[in-house]
Amino acid sequence: MAELAVNIDHIATIREARGGIEPDPIAGAVIAELAGAVGIVCHLREDRRHINDRDVRLLREVVKTKLDLEMAATPEIIEIAFEVLPDLVTIVPERREELTTEGGLDVAARVEFYTNLVERIHDKEIEVSFFIEPDTDQIDAALEAGADIVELHTGIYANARSAEDVRTELERLAGAAAYARQNGLRVTAGHGLNYINVVPIVGIPDIVEVSIGHAIISRAVFVGLDRAVREMCSLVRHGCLPHK
Ligand code: PXP
Repeated sequence: MAELAVNIDHIATIREARGGIEPDPIAGAVIAELAGAVGIVCHLREDRRHINDRDVRLLREVVKTKLDLEMAATPEIIEIAFEVLPDLVTIVPERREELTTEGGLDVAARVEFYTNLVERIHDKEIEVSFFIEPDTDQIDAALEAGADIVELHTGIYANARSAEDVRTELERLAGAAAYARQNGLRVTAGHGLNYINVVPIVGIPDIVEVSIGHAIISRAVFVGLDRAVREMCSLVRHGCLPHK
């Protein structure tokens, strides 16, 4: 089965609700790692609505597993990534008015731009993932650009309501994951995954890791972050909650 990377943006969202110093996403990263996460993900947005520059720098010092910096490919954020040197960057589309990332990146529309960007990022010995729709054109474009990883967008699957739509989306994700892996890419998945819908996703053999934030931080409000991460790790690795 797969492994779990924990997105800690929403700890910072709660902090920013009061503009204060707590809860601190850095403490959240430490707890998530101790509870079994294999990576910590944060998205430094242009508007700094949750994670800020101080967080990214401290996370680089503190994270012992793997720091995945999610970012839009803008000059300002690229410069910060080159100073901080995360283990991995995940390139995502970003719109100021969106509540959260709303869909995959259109790599195919700007292959030359992304090829050049991947080269610059690789020069810093940072791996590159593109957050894309489960679509062969986008996978081909990611391959052409030189990506190491593709993170398949699971938002449409997560929002599907009828059993038929869920099945269709799962098949689309499984097909895309197989195609990407056969062509040498590592395949991860994320967006909108929770304690119920994650199991079929990690049942797709080509998906090696999932990136999950909102559901874990939401559950942590009631059961604590350590337990919320342990429970998700167990679902992701074994398909079931831990035995009591
Ligand atoms: N992967 C990417 C690329 C994302 O932008 C997000 C949201 O920040 C996630 C995964 C995690 O999504 P969620 O918070 O819905 O679990």
